[in-house]
Amino acid sequence: MDKLKNHLLPEVATIKEIIKETPNIISLQLVLHDENSMRNFSFKPGQVGQISVFGFGESTFVINSSPSNKEYLQFSIMKAGFNTTAIHNLSEGEKVGLRAPLGNWFPYEDMQGKKIIFVGGGIGLAPLRPLILHALENKNKFKELTLLYAAKTPEDYCFKYDIAEWEKSRDIKLIQTIDNVCYGWDREVGLCADVLERMAPSPANTVAVVCGPPIMIKFTLQVLKKLNFTDDMIYTTLERRMKCGIGKCGRCNIGEKFVCVDGPVFTLKELNNLCENFI
Ligand SMILES: Cc1cc2nc3c(=O)[nH]c(=O)nc-3n(C[C@H](O)[C@H](O)[C@H](O)COP(=O)(O)OP(=O)(O)OC[C@H]3O[C@@H](n4cnc5c(N)ncnc54)[C@H](O)[C@@H]3O)c2cc1C
Ligand code: FES
Repeated sequence: MDKLKNHLLPEVATIKEIIKETPNIISLQLVLHDENSMRNFSFKPGQVGQISVFGFGESTFVINSSPSNKEYLQFSIMKAGFNTTAIHNLSEGEKVGLRAPLGNWFPYEDMQGKKIIFVGGGIGLAPLRPLILHALENKNKFKELTLLYAAKTPEDYCFKYDIAEWEKSRDIKLIQTIDNVCYGWDREVGLCADVLERMAPSPANTVAVVCGPPIMIKFTLQVLKKLNFTDDMIYTTLERRMKCGIGKCGRCNIGEKFVCVDGPVFTLKELNNLCENFI
């Protein structure tokens, strides 16, 4: 965290573009109003931002563009309640407040020279996206990249523009699944954890990064353990309601840690040491 910056003070950002990802998820491409701030903004894959809608409130979202992208910062927002509905009602050109980057990140440097298996469910692809984009941009530093992406239906697939590219790419192996059989779908069918078990990736020199709804994380972690992935080779992100985002208000604690500064990225080993039921 930049110690000289006031992390409680939102910067003004303009909505450059809105992408409709699914019936209830949009992506915002934000440009910081201050050109200098935009040019100098840097973040690491997994870090988050607090977006505020004037007159409504502030909520936490993962920065999901590539860390190398200096043109805009992308966030994807699923309509959940008060603030997220207010964000969905915004238009291109309107302004929001942004406090970012906050939190820790995936230790991508430690992952170099290793195979990575990404497992994402629904909007859980958002935290994985900046790490995947970074790994693809630096493919020579990583071994095999595999993404298992699961959603309820084809309509619920986020980032269809990435999926279309990754399907053609030789640099990442993509496995797509939906929960139930659906007309015209010719990929995998079945829950994420079941498909992962059938794939049975080897844990040798491999890290697993898992993001998605709590129930999907729970069953996916069980399968990874069955496949002999050790707890320090498995990374996930936690969602806890945040307020200050800088470790001052105590709103987001899990055990003795604060998700806003010690997380949102944790290894399974760290989580097991923190509390029994972290999901
Ligand atoms: C580290 C982190 C990263 C996140 N990244 C994303 C992201 O990239 N995209 C995205 O769409 N959402 C993300 N979220 C969740 C997002 O912050 C909440 O959905 C949002 O704050 C809900 O605000 P609201 O006012 O619309 O909901 P409210 O009206 O306050 O509540 C509506 C419903 O959402 C639940 N809810 C509210 N906040 C959270 C939360 N933090 N975690 C889980 N459930 C919550 C409430 O219990 C309630 O059931 C993230 C949360 C965290 C903590
Ligand atoms: S949100 Fe305030 S301590 Fe984490």
